[in-house]
Amino acid sequence: MGSNLARNLASREGNTVAVFNRSYEKTETLITEHPEAGFIATSSYEEFAAALQKPRTAIIMVQAGRGTDAVIDALTAVFEPGDIIVDGGNALFTDTIRREAAVRATGINFVGAGISGGEEGALNGPSIMPGGSAEAWQTLGPILRSIAAVAEGEPCVTHVGTDGAGHFVKMIHNGIEYADMQLIAEAYDLLRRVGGLEPAEIAEVFAEWNTGELESYLIEITAEVLRQVDASTGKPLVDVILDQAGAKGTGAWTVQTALDLGVPVSGIAEAVFARSLSSKPAQRAAASAMPAAAAEWAPDDRAAFVEDVRRALYASKIIAYSQGFDAIVAGAEQYDWDIKKGEIAKIWRAGCIIRAQFLNRITEAYAADPELVALVTAPYFTEAVAGALPAWRRIVSGAALAGIPTPTFASSLSYYDGLRADRLPAALVQGQRDFFGAHTYKRVDKEGTFHTLWSGDRTEISATDAH
Ligand SMILES: NC(=O)c1ccc[n+]([C@@H]2O[C@H](COP(=O)([O-])OP(=O)(O)OC[C@H]3O[C@@H](n4cnc5c(N)ncnc54)[C@H](OP(=O)(O)O)[C@@H]3O)[C@@H](O)[C@H]2O)c1
Repeated sequence: MGSNLARNLASREGNTVAVFNRSYEKTETLITEHPEAGFIATSSYEEFAAALQKPRTAIIMVQAGRGTDAVIDALTAVFEPGDIIVDGGNALFTDTIRREAAVRATGINFVGAGISGGEEGALNGPSIMPGGSAEAWQTLGPILRSIAAVAEGEPCVTHVGTDGAGHFVKMIHNGIEYADMQLIAEAYDLLRRVGGLEPAEIAEVFAEWNTGELESYLIEITAEVLRQVDASTGKPLVDVILDQAGAKGTGAWTVQTALDLGVPVSGIAEAVFARSLSSKPAQRAAASAMPAAAAEWAPDDRAAFVEDVRRALYASKIIAYSQGFDAIVAGAEQYDWDIKKGEIAKIWRAGCIIRAQFLNRITEAYAADPELVALVTAPYFTEAVAGALPAWRRIVSGAALAGIPTPTFASSLSYYDGLRADRLPAALVQGQRDFFGAHTYKRVDKEGTFHTLWSGDRTEISATDAH
């Protein structure tokens, strides 16, 4: 990532880029392989600092955690007040809040910037989510704008908010990415197991979907992966890849953070858990003989079934993005960040992994109502989900009857039904809580907080008298 980002920077008019890696041989390889970049190779932090114009700007691309702390410490020792240290790795946003405060105390600016787009994005234009101070953004803005991806003429970078806001938003981006990928995988599984389509045929279905409202990078690459044939066996590549999905942790961070914030990101959580379940071979082997008691599901009209899957995918995807944006709203409130939700959707339109056509609809929704309480309640999304509902219910119920796991499809539909319900069984949960723990409850018909004397005569008292 670091070398590609450096090459991207060096390719922009007027930029001379100094590079440093703790292993000097890697720096040498980079400058030898890319003489066109005109890099200044440096072999120590002192030399690196001396090579930069003031105020200096350094972008760190190392593993999150101790490595990042080590590099920040070393740079802080050789930089001066007014200089800028940018951490472009996938740091946990609470670490970024801590680091920003510590570095700011030295007079040096620290900016945690989420960078999405993988190796290719780093080279040709990523989506960049910087946090840090407004002062640092003054200097950094033009540099990051010059290397970012461009969507409809606009660079995919914006000052997200102070301290850890950039890494927070990047974390949510990755969480949404987990949900989006799992949803696509569930759609593939249904098309194959119920629709009876072969991977190459499913690739064509995805390619077709990529011309409509589902148009996105992830749908596009799914078609590519499904088209790929394994050279050594002649089988579809997807059939020879071990079905155990890995994870680097940003999905789990999203869910952990959302739990702390009390935001239901059930689609993202199910996607993270689906990867965990897949990666438990011993448990899966032990459970493989368990009964299915499933019914045969063979739709008469295959084209109609494929369309149902598409609609269910689109509705579930709307829920996943809605939940992700709800988490951004809650995080902004908790950490006092002025995050412009519509701007975030805009900078995800190119360069990043979840780039998609429908992000424009999110920008429009927040432009129409910046205080939107839940993204899915915006008219465009409500309508889109309503149009998909019969198909969505057919797919989720059909999968349940057929014994096909659809954790993100099903949880997204459940979330939708929960959100729109007039009345939830939470009332009973409150009753149970009051029974065993005197946790009290409120009533629908009068003000106040109440407790029933469950171990006494079961009369109700005002909670202020209960203790
Ligand atoms: N790969 C992606 O698609 C992607 C996308 C977005 C964000 N990111 C984030 O970008 C960062 C870099 O990822 P990457 O894929 O480029 O990783 P990478 O190829 O493994 O490179 C990591 C770099 O960190 C250096 N490093 C590790 N520990 C260090 C320490 N203690 N002190 C000094 N340098 C240290 C390594 O130096 P040596 O060469 O000497 O080992 C290497 O230059 C990570 O935070 C990652 O999460 C990656």
